[in-house]
Amino acid sequence: MPDINSGRIFVAGHTGLAGSAILRHLTERGCRNLITIPHRELDLTNQAAVERFFDYCKPDYVFLAAAKVGGIMANATQPAEFAYNNLSIQTNVIHSAWKHGVKKLLFLGSSCIYPRCAPQPIREEYLLTSELEPTNEAYAIAKIAGLKLAQAYRAQYGFSAISLMPTNLYGPGDNFDLKSSHVLPALLRRFHEASRDGAPSVTLWGTGTPRREFLHVDDLASAACFAMENYDDMAPLNVGYGSDITIAELAGLVARITGYTGDILFDASHPDGTPRKLLDVARINALGWKASISLEEGIASTYAWYREHVTRSMAA
Ligand SMILES: NC(=O)c1ccc[n+]([C@@H]2O[C@H](COP(=O)([O-])OP(=O)(O)OC[C@H]3O[C@@H](n4cnc5c(N)ncnc54)[C@H](OP(=O)(O)O)[C@@H]3O)[C@@H](O)[C@H]2O)c1
Repeated sequence: MPDINSGRIFVAGHTGLAGSAILRHLTERGCRNLITIPHRELDLTNQAAVERFFDYCKPDYVFLAAAKVGGIMANATQPAEFAYNNLSIQTNVIHSAWKHGVKKLLFLGSSCIYPRCAPQPIREEYLLTSELEPTNEAYAIAKIAGLKLAQAYRAQYGFSAISLMPTNLYGPGDNFDLKSSHVLPALLRRFHEASRDGAPSVTLWGTGTPRREFLHVDDLASAACFAMENYDDMAPLNVGYGSDITIAELAGLVARITGYTGDILFDASHPDGTPRKLLDVARINALGWKASISLEEGIASTYAWYREHVTRSMAA
């Protein structure tokens, strides 16, 4: 297995939630040959530009954390962009990485690839066994294609491409824009603002009963580096915290952390999405990796980051 510290490492999507955490993790463990490039300087949907970049930089290892990512509303209103951008980014990066002799590539998929009604907890082999959740189908199909592409390059060319399927991520650097954010950062922002404004109630979409799993992005970064150094196989690896919580329970936890004391109401006329989504993390645990940041600790530190970075920049 590779010692990635000695190689040139390209983190694609290094300004994003996952990519920035991977970059932090690599920096903290002393990796010096880190390659990054902002989106405005390299559009990864542009195949010719990606080719030139790989030809010039010649990375040894690639963490593919660049993607178009968003919550229910963004997925519902921009399915073409979710499909096109993700299919293009992953195809261009995987192909160029193989062509330019990259030693190993890690593709970040998502737990959305699994069937809507998969048995719980979801094992890796449940992929493509029944229908997907319709609200993010375009994104899920693109991610499944990325995983299959990585497998095809391994099967045909022996390219060392591995895939991680993380559960819902959260942490510093998250997207707190209510139009495009995921549930946890959206709750943090809504309860923060409700607490600040002394709002008597906060109404959330759906019934509050769906169960979700959340992984702090620093845990994801440690799993990604662990997998890069200790895993080299065709099959995707789930990465999760190992237990889930209802949206209502999550709302209660976020309310407590943000100091919100009003009512929490649920508007059941809005869709809930998948009823439950908990990944089976037995395989990565058996390899020697386990999540270490509790949800309460992770939300508290994310809230501290939000107050420091987001609310301050809004006030400026
Ligand atoms: N967030 C989650 O809960 C979650 C859960 C499971 C899996 N994942 C997976 O983790 C990966 C990263 O997600 P994330 O949450 O970190 O997303 P994110 O915060 O939105 O970051 C995406 C990154 O990709 C870059 N990017 C997007 N389009 C690009 C393009 N055409 N060319 C170059 N760069 C581009 C973005 O740069 P700009 O911001 O400058 O555009 C940003 O750096 C994705 O593959 C996602 O499927 C995420």
